[in-house]
Amino acid sequence: MKSLLTLYKRAFKRKYLVHAILAILFMIGDVGIALAIPMITKGIFTEINSGRNDLSYVYQTGLLVVGIAIGAVITTILNNFFSQYLSTKITADLRSELFRKVQDLSFSNVDKITSGALMTVIANDTGQIQQLLLMSFRAILRNPLTLVGALIMAYITNADLFLIILIAVLILGVSIFFIITRAARIFVKLQEKNDNLNEKLIESISGAREIKVFGSEKADRDQFKIVNDEYTNVVITANKRMALMDPIIILTSNLAIGAVLLTASYLVSVYTGEARVAMVGTISAYISYLQQIIMSLMMLSMVAISISRAAVSADRIMLVLKTKIDIANAKEPQTGFEMRGDIEFRNVSFGYADEEGTAGSNTIEGISLKIKSQSVTGVIGSTGSGKTTLIQLIPRLYDVTQGQVLIDGIDVRDIDLRFLRENISFVTQDSLIFSGTLASNIRQGKEDSTEEDIEAAAVASLADEFAKKAEHGYESEVTQGGTNLSGGQKQRLSLARALIRKPKILILDDAFSAVDAKTEEKIKENLVKQKQQTTIIVAQKITSVRNCDNIIVLNNSGHLDGYGSHEELLKTSEVYREIYVSQFGGNHE
Ligand SMILES: Nc1ncnc2c1ncn2[C@@H]1O[C@H](COP(=O)(O)OP(=O)(O)O)[C@@H](O)[C@H]1O
Ligand SMILES: [Mg+2]
Repeated sequence: MKSLLTLYKRAFKRKYLVHAILAILFMIGDVGIALAIPMITKGIFTEINSGRNDLSYVYQTGLLVVGIAIGAVITTILNNFFSQYLSTKITADLRSELFRKVQDLSFSNVDKITSGALMTVIANDTGQIQQLLLMSFRAILRNPLTLVGALIMAYITNADLFLIILIAVLILGVSIFFIITRAARIFVKLQEKNDNLNEKLIESISGAREIKVFGSEKADRDQFKIVNDEYTNVVITANKRMALMDPIIILTSNLAIGAVLLTASYLVSVYTGEARVAMVGTISAYISYLQQIIMSLMMLSMVAISISRAAVSADRIMLVLKTKIDIANAKEPQTGFEMRGDIEFRNVSFGYADEEGTAGSNTIEGISLKIKSQSVTGVIGSTGSGKTTLIQLIPRLYDVTQGQVLIDGIDVRDIDLRFLRENISFVTQDSLIFSGTLASNIRQGKEDSTEEDIEAAAVASLADEFAKKAEHGYESEVTQGGTNLSGGQKQRLSLARALIRKPKILILDDAFSAVDAKTEEKIKENLVKQKQQTTIIVAQKITSVRNCDNIIVLNNSGHLDGYGSHEELLKTSEVYREIYVSQFGGNHE
């Protein structure tokens, strides 16, 4: 509830004030007209009943009713327009704000919140808020206003009948209250189940390839069935709990109408003169007001449900908005200097935070080494030894838990984050390819690149080999996720994207896994020829790193087992020798 109010306060911008005031004014106009019509109708009834036969009064009032009805249509349309406009605009702002925030989140932030939850927040939770915003300008104020207004009007029309309405309101109010409080919890649960359903969908659709490859459709379907069934069951429970609502409302309102009619006929026998003449009109007005009152009570109960659902969404939205970004700029970050690309790890340890966000055990520990500018360094170790973890610390995808990573002698945490990342290119094993063209994917590394730049980067990464053969050259279509490219083509394309930025540090994390050995050799020769960057190559195979100036060897507990050239490591590193033997057998070439 608190988040909801906070969210309302921050989402509502000054520029929307005029729209909001107009929406509310038209809403008030609407309510006023709805309240006035039964009163006017009553006048007509009374006039007809009086036997005065003043038809001109009847006609005039009839025309008045038509005029007012047209007015009501206009106020309703305008109120709808402004409410829709406001709720859509405010939600769009909120979505953009969330999107920007998500872009700023660090990897460890996302580890904690999970990407599925983030998608649900942006896609679904903002929708709940939009619903409630729409209601805010249309229903939340309208119904209490109508309720109070109709009560007052009913009392003015006839005080003797008022008690009946009061009793009806009391009965309805209490029963709706009980139904809603019981149902509100289930609606919150409904939303949870709905989220599970969405998260499962996101996972299955984005993992469609893997599911097909492993033939795990059945298992996937079973998992989907579970979340789908859970969702369905909650919907059924929710409907059961709400099932009494309509019958109670209909019964109470019919009973109340009956009571009004009975009491009115008694009153007719008691009343004399004008009061007696006015009775037919009074009954008609009373029934109208009664219906308005019941309607507004019903709508208020819907509002209550919307509020409880939106409160859950607001909690999650605020959680994202309030997340402290753990990788941010220092107070006075260093920027704009000519980066040489000397790298030093000084007694570095790092552990991923566990689920509760507290630091877990160290994945890599006590690593100290220096990498010279423009050298080529290999990183090797078994799967899970922490190779990726280690190199992610250089562009600050994560921050060290202990020790320091330095570039040109400056702690990376003191370098402007943007500047740091502009100077580092990082290619992963499965870099994301975006829908567009070959050229647009390469240009993503640097938006203002010329065609020559693109070609040069593609030549160095050997992406030009297939780009030239493609039907439209560099302008050939690439589908979302690069599904129309082979694994090796995707890797070469992402390498071109990395090279076009002319990075001072180039990190290739298993980026050759899908290209053949000969192509890999050629690309590496090109990289060395460029002599413009410090290169780090993470690999599984000895052949991928043996020609590097130095090789970092990690053991299974994330410690440095050796650091040196291929020849040196064969003598000094147990782990390196083991990997070598496992890949080449016993014979030392
Ligand atoms: N985001 C993460 N959160 C928690 N643990 C992680 C995360 N990424 C990797 N790990 C764990 O850290 C260890 C090292 O992983 P990684 O650096 O990817 O190894 P490598 O690249 O050598 O295969 C593994 O045990 C892995 O499970
Ligand atoms: Mg890895």
